[in-house]
Parts: sequence; structure tokens; C-alpha cells
Amino acid sequence: MPTNEPPRLRRERQAELYQRALKTLPGGTDSNFRAWGDDTIYVDRGQGGRVWDADGNEYIDLRMGYGPVLLGHGDARVDDYVNERMRRGVSFSLTSEDEVEAMELLKQLTGWVGKARMTVSGTEATMHAMRVARAYTGRSKIVKFEGQYHGVHDYALISVTPNDMADLGDAENPVGLAWGRGIPEAVGKTIIPARYNEMAVLRRIFERDGDDIAAIIVEPVLGNEQAIMPRPGFHQEMRALTKEFGALLIFDEVKTGFRFARGGAAEFFGITPDLATYAKAMGNGYPAAAFAGTDEVMSVLPDKVSHGGTYAGNRVAASAAVATLKILRDTEAIATVHAVGSAIQGELREVLNTRGLPHIFTGHPSMFGIMFTDTAPTEYRDWAKSDHDLYDAVAVGMHARGAMPEPDSREPWFFCEAHAREDIVDKVASIFSDSLDAALEARAGSARKDGHHVGLGTGNHVVSAAMHAGTDPD
Ligand SMILES: Cc1ncc(COP(=O)(O)O)c(C=O)c1O
Repeated sequence: MPTNEPPRLRRERQAELYQRALKTLPGGTDSNFRAWGDDTIYVDRGQGGRVWDADGNEYIDLRMGYGPVLLGHGDARVDDYVNERMRRGVSFSLTSEDEVEAMELLKQLTGWVGKARMTVSGTEATMHAMRVARAYTGRSKIVKFEGQYHGVHDYALISVTPNDMADLGDAENPVGLAWGRGIPEAVGKTIIPARYNEMAVLRRIFERDGDDIAAIIVEPVLGNEQAIMPRPGFHQEMRALTKEFGALLIFDEVKTGFRFARGGAAEFFGITPDLATYAKAMGNGYPAAAFAGTDEVMSVLPDKVSHGGTYAGNRVAASAAVATLKILRDTEAIATVHAVGSAIQGELREVLNTRGLPHIFTGHPSMFGIMFTDTAPTEYRDWAKSDHDLYDAVAVGMHARGAMPEPDSREPWFFCEAHAREDIVDKVASIFSDSLDAALEARAGSARKDGHHVGLGTGNHVVSAAMHAGTDPD
């Protein structure tokens, strides 16, 4: 019997909602990523860095909607502005000053962007950026890295998130793996998979197919894989390689844009891409997104490339972007987010070191991951080598104790400005600590049952036994 049994979450109302929703929404949700079976969460409200589900359970929110809510839920500075602007009407399929101002702010913050256009989602933004790159270069192929997520259009769903790394093919010759059915083979063939941080593989790809490659699209960090960072020089080398072969570099800043720095990851890593996409964090959760590029590359619009959208630049999104980007420009909000993330990371490190557990923190203080491994991961394939079963158990155990990271060991924790006002650092650390102990205790219990000599207090052994199990992801 575990000594630190978590309080039970109330689930009655959500169980009802789940059964009801299943009759209408596939999986009971509007996105596959929220369909957690019987544990599917139905949210009631959020405020600042906290969220309440439909049964009234309260959590410190460490998902922040997968990143967009950079300031906090219900931020009055943004909401009041959006409210005021939306009363003038939201959708005209005409252009408002809000849109012009939002894209002017984006230019100002990034410094390198010449032209930009709004979309409603990150998916649309990456789809249009890829099309612009193809139109500008007259080439059809796009290089994309394994494990990187660029949304749910056909061109983005190649080699994203298999559990079995063998599906990705030989490490020297990765194969394109479509995520799910319905993606035409011909579309898949236009995407060339590469491995993040592996310059030799990338160079070989360019030497083989360089004449056909329009662009590399890259999340500057492996956002869908605990935010694994680039090796020193990786982005610079990639920038040089694309120039050498006349291809473009697309930074997908949907997660990093305005989170890493005012100018996004481009500023943080000192790289000037040719195109970039933004979404999360540019509207504090409102559906604002954009694709942007240099004047030269974006000059294919409007005459040579199709782009439109009834809701593109709608008043709600555009005014949310204006309010949010002004706050990011004029206040220390981004630095505050970094500080609270660093403080939490420091506390977690302490907890892990006390238990002697091998671990690596990945990513950036504003969105970091924890991998139970002693080898620094550099690419998606490294996830399989970490003890992700232990991570999953800890994350799920945290929910019951009042903090909500994503219960998938590939998704980083996200922080917002409001977290800094809410005195959550110690609370998150103690929830993490209790959940970790419970997970280790449960594992030691089952190992004892199976006759293995593993137990608490020998953290390293617990993990190495687990690492073995961890190579069989669920
Ligand atoms: C890096 C990246 N690109 C694109 C997308 C797609 O954005 P959206 O969900 O707004 O379509 C996401 C969403 O998680 C993302 O993280």
C-alpha cells in the first residue's frame, strides 16, 4: 500500500460529460490530443496559472493550453481590449486597423520580418509558409525533422510521433512515416525526413536532392519532444547549408515565438530565417496566428500564391494579438516567465538529486522537459531510451495532487507570467516530489512481486530497471 496515496479527484460530472460527448464528438473531444479515455478532462474555467475542471478540481496549470497562454488565463489587459474591439463587429472579410497594427508589432518584435499575414491556426500558418517557399523557389520538396510537429495538414503529418523508433527507418536513411490514414502517398513523398541535430544526415539529403528542396522547416527546439535544444552551431550550419543549396529556412515559431525572447527563437539563437510561423503566445490563447518572411520571399504574395481565409485577421484574434504583443514589447513579462520556470526547475533538480535519480532537463526555462535518463537527448529517437513510463506515472500522479503537466512524456511543461504572482514554486516541487515517490514506490512494489531486487533508496537501480521497461513504449 503506497504511503502517500493521492487525494482522489472528483470525476462524477466529467464522467457524465464524457459519456454524453462520446455520442457526438469522436473520442469525446475536438482534438485527438485531448482524448484521454476515461480520464478525459472537461474544463470549467481558468484564471491566471490555474485551471478548474467541471467537477471543481483545481490544478496549477503546467500545460497552458500547450503553450499559448503566456500571460495567464483571463488576463484582463488582453480580455478587456478584445472585448472593447469586438463590439465593433468581428468578421467582415475586410481589413481592420487591428490587423495592420498586429503585423506591425510582429515586425517590430522580430526585427527581421518584412511582410506578414494572419491566419487562424498554426496549422494554416505552416501550410502557407511551405507553399510560399515552394512558390518562391519553384521546387517541391520540404525537409522536416523527425518528431517535429507543425500542425495537422497533410504535409506536416510525416514522421511526427511514432512510439516505435523502428518505424522511422534506418538512422542513416530515415523513411517518411505518415501519421494516420488519409494522407496521399504522393503528398508524403514531397516531405523528406531528417534527424534533428544530425548535420551529416542533413548534408547527405541535400547532396542527393538539393535541386528539388524548397526549404527546411524546423521548430527551433524539438517542441514536441520535451523541447530538446539544438547542439551549439546546429542552426548556423543549417542556415549555411540552405543558402549553399538555394533553399529557404522556415522557423516554425508556433511554440517558441515570443516565449524564448521578444524576437522568438530567431533572436534567441541569433538566426535570420527566410520565413517563420507564429501562433501560440501571440494572442494569449485567442486564435491568432501568422506566417511571415522577408520582403523578398513574401513578394510572391498576393499575385503568385493563393492565400485567404474568411477568419484570417478577424477582429478577436487581431485585437488579442495587438494587446498581447504590446505587453510583451513594453513589460518584463517574458523575463518573468523565464524566472518562474528557472525557479521551478531549480526545486525539481533538488528533489531529483536527493533521490539520486539520473535525469536531464531539456529545453528553455519557459518550456522545459524532464527526461529520466543519464544521456543528454539530441533528437526524437532518444525519447525511446529514456524512462518515459516513470515520467508518465509521475505526471499523472501530479494531476491527482493538484498540478497538471501534460500526461505525455514528450510534451514540455509551460509557464506563464501569472505563475510568478501565485507563489506556486514550492507547491509544484512538493507535488512533484510526492508523485515521484509514489511512482517509485509503486514500481518497487511491482518489482518485488516479480522477484527483482529493486527498492526505494536505490534510485539509480530503480531507474535502470525502468529504462529497460521504457524501451517498450505504450
Ligand atoms: C511548432 C508547432 N507548429 C504548429 C502547430 C500547429 O498549431 P495549431 O494547433 O494552432 O494548428 C503547433 C501546435 O502545437 C506547434 O507546436
